[in-house]
Amino acid sequence: MTLRAMLGNVPVIPVLAIREPAHAVPLARALVAGGLPVLEVTLRTPAALGAIRAIADTVEGAVLGVGTVLKPGDLEAAAKAGARFAVSPGLTGDLAQAAQDGPIPLLPGTATVSEMMRARELGFTALKFFPAAQAGGPGALKAIAPVLPDLRFCPTGGVSAANMADYLALPTVFCVGGSWVAPEAAVAAGDWATITRLAADAVAAAGKTA
Ligand code: 3PG
Repeated sequence: MTLRAMLGNVPVIPVLAIREPAHAVPLARALVAGGLPVLEVTLRTPAALGAIRAIADTVEGAVLGVGTVLKPGDLEAAAKAGARFAVSPGLTGDLAQAAQDGPIPLLPGTATVSEMMRARELGFTALKFFPAAQAGGPGALKAIAPVLPDLRFCPTGGVSAANMADYLALPTVFCVGGSWVAPEAAVAAGDWATITRLAADAVAAAGKTA
């Protein structure tokens, strides 16, 4: 399945940094129940690969990706653990090659026009725009659209319930990513109901922009 087919039907990809192995499955279930089945588990914690394995094996309906992929080995390990797509904060030649040869598609991060042109040359047309808020927000994407009209973006970094609609209103944005739907305090407290509500709120707010 192509990356756009996998990610194209959800407005928000929750970006997760899972610290406690025991949180992985209930957290994923809470987000799926709230209407956000496409999840990105970042490789920023020692628990990440185990969490990917547990969610992939257990949580029905989840479309699981791995985030913060920095090198080819990350891609391979996460794919082996059950990730179906990968997200990176930037792009290197090695990573692009590994993604082209590898078992799962990559959504590479870009912040500037030159990085976008380079990613495009390497064959990527669906890109993460990161860090979205600091790299110019919706205004930057609006200005870039006429010069690189074939590129599509998933802005991530500083996206929130308050500004999500500004990104989703742009024709070149196919979804946004963010951690706000799974706040650390709610995860630590095992407050899965709050996370399901935040996910459902995001789905409802996105519906208004469609
Ligand atoms: C990412 O990895 O894409 C971002 O760190 C998520 O950014 P946020 O925490 O600002 O949503």
